[in-house]
Amino acid sequence: MYMPLVSKLKEYISNQPVPFHMPGHKGGRQFPAELPFLPQMDLTEVPGLDNLQAPEGVIREAQLAAAEAFRSDACFFLVNGSTSGIHIMMMTAFHPGDRVLIPRNCHKSVWGGLVLSGAEPVYVLPEYDADRELVTHVSPQAVGRAVDGNPNIAGMVITNPDYYGLCPHLLEIRKILNKNGMKLLVDEAHGAHLIFHSDLPPSAGECDADIWVQSAHKSLPALTQSAYLHVREGRGNKESEYLDKAAQVHRMMQSTSPSYLLMASLDWARAYMEDKGREKLDKLLDYLSWTRRRLHVLGIDTMQGYSRPEVFQTDATRLILDVSELGFTGFKGEEILRQAGVQVEMSDNRRLVLICTIADREEDFRRLVEACRFLSQKKGKCREKRRSLTISREIPRQMLSPKEAFERKKVLVPLKDARGRICGEPVGTYPPGIPRFCPGELIDSQGIEEMLENQALGARLFGLTENVLISVIAE
Ligand SMILES: Cc1ncc(COP(=O)(O)O)c(C=O)c1O
Repeated sequence: MYMPLVSKLKEYISNQPVPFHMPGHKGGRQFPAELPFLPQMDLTEVPGLDNLQAPEGVIREAQLAAAEAFRSDACFFLVNGSTSGIHIMMMTAFHPGDRVLIPRNCHKSVWGGLVLSGAEPVYVLPEYDADRELVTHVSPQAVGRAVDGNPNIAGMVITNPDYYGLCPHLLEIRKILNKNGMKLLVDEAHGAHLIFHSDLPPSAGECDADIWVQSAHKSLPALTQSAYLHVREGRGNKESEYLDKAAQVHRMMQSTSPSYLLMASLDWARAYMEDKGREKLDKLLDYLSWTRRRLHVLGIDTMQGYSRPEVFQTDATRLILDVSELGFTGFKGEEILRQAGVQVEMSDNRRLVLICTIADREEDFRRLVEACRFLSQKKGKCREKRRSLTISREIPRQMLSPKEAFERKKVLVPLKDARGRICGEPVGTYPPGIPRFCPGELIDSQGIEEMLENQALGARLFGLTENVLISVIAE
């Protein structure tokens, strides 16, 4: 039988690399005892079960339990990841023409949210740690300045934590937004586990966010695409502005045949974390301290104690390996670890990012340390040219809103000839992954030169076709 996808999956599984990546259940290690009948559980809205589009029975009960666990007033199960949740929350909270603070380093689903809601971005720049070549977060001061300069802002979308486990000053930012009645929407795709351990950074649910979204599949033992959308029912005596609208948009944006497997894993992950989360996270944090000590001896910098004024706290479950002192890039480091049987989540110019969850076992960390020993033995043996990239701190002129840019016809032109054109798709240097130009922005020669110089130094540019063509609005 010809089944290319099935065959490749079987081959991959049989090689058994240690999984320091999503999904958080790590090969279903936690599942067998509690979810032994996965294929049989793939059901539909038969009598006795419930309907995600109009939950009145078990789905409603499971969502209520999740709302309580994550400290929201209402939870909606998502079967298309945080991506769909971000679209729903932005369509719920914002109206066409609303002006919204958007950190320039937000996830790409936020661009989709801008197009779908018709809201217009007021971009704010996150801080950049040039020594570490790391984009961090927007500071409360920068939020304050943006709010003072734009009193009619409707709200803000912010990420907590980011891919590297860095968390912004959510509470302080909440207070700034409160003063002007602005909404706080949080992309907590990487933070579903935070609420289950008091040593971890505060979750959006503890910082009075209005709406927030969590990918259960990233940091909890849940199936890929499963995620939670949380809504707060209005603060003080205020009636909820969002509950009915969120329910309506949720109905619009989710399949009418949502997978019971995904919903069951959302229910199960919540229950398991409430029951055993604290104890399991304690164990995970112990494994990680042990691992970080050993990696330190091997000369691998885990960025322990990393602090910056705009970073409130770091998520200790996210393991970062800065391998630049070993003389190679994170990309090369990832390749070497793969040879040694470990698959990480992602890499950049100088770092590897490992997603660690309660499903990781002591032996996985032992294997990781052994793989890192192999990595450290390569020190200086594959020296690559260190590149010093230019990452400008400018926000280009907005000519069209993201929605207008989305509606217009696009053409591809060589990047070097794009001066004066209007950008059609986000483009920039990766890492750090901040768009140099976003859809609707005017492309200037400074930005073109910057990207071409970075490319000549060996950096990757994202958003280009065949590495040279940029999408622009047709004239
Ligand atoms: C910060 C952030 N937000 C949102 C998403 C989208 O989440 P999902 O993959 O669950 O749709 C991601 C995915 O990696 C992400 O990193």
